[in-house]
Amino acid sequence: MGEENPQSLYHAIGGKPTLEKVHKIFYNTLYAHPWLGQYFHGMPQNVIESQQTDFMTFAMGGPEVYSSKFPAPTHKHMYITEEMFDLRQAVLKQSLEKAQVPAELAGKWLNIDASFRNGLVKASVADCEKRYPTDCILNFQNPLAREDTTQHPNLRQQPQG
Ligand code: HEM
Repeated sequence: MGEENPQSLYHAIGGKPTLEKVHKIFYNTLYAHPWLGQYFHGMPQNVIESQQTDFMTFAMGGPEVYSSKFPAPTHKHMYITEEMFDLRQAVLKQSLEKAQVPAELAGKWLNIDASFRNGLVKASVADCEKRYPTDCILNFQNPLAREDTTQHPNLRQQPQG
């Protein structure tokens, strides 16, 4: 584990307690969300929170604790659209506000998060790939988009290939 850099964003936001506070609010909202919540089905929220905290500790220049995978390979089986990414960013922004992170620091946090957009957003479901043979391609319709009546919102797309 590395030293904490006093010039880092990690230090400025208040370190691990602030990351944990924001991620608790953030994942409480995502898990309860009728669309995005479906992607986390069956995954313990505390594990996801702690992986995200470790990852953002690393991304914000905090002590080196992250030993897990990077976002692009972890999400390659998920059909993430621009709309989903925008929605997730809006939830993160609200979570930062609720946790009373000062606006300037919240903006820097959101910029780091947004820098992963190009690696995660896919133009079509055909761009998704399974990580393991047992993976499903995750592709959920937005149940709030009333005009799409062609698919039941809770249908998990069958594995492809
Ligand atoms: C709408 C966009 C996103 C969705 C729907 C999403 C969903 C998920 C899901 C379902 C998992 C659990 C995967 C599994 O364990 O099988 C996960 C893990 C993770 N996500 Fe995301 N995510 C999104 C965007 C992001 C972004 C922008 C970041 C980075 C800033 C990120 C960082 C992570 C990390 C670090 C993990 C844990 C990886 C690991 O240790 O295995 N995610 N995400």
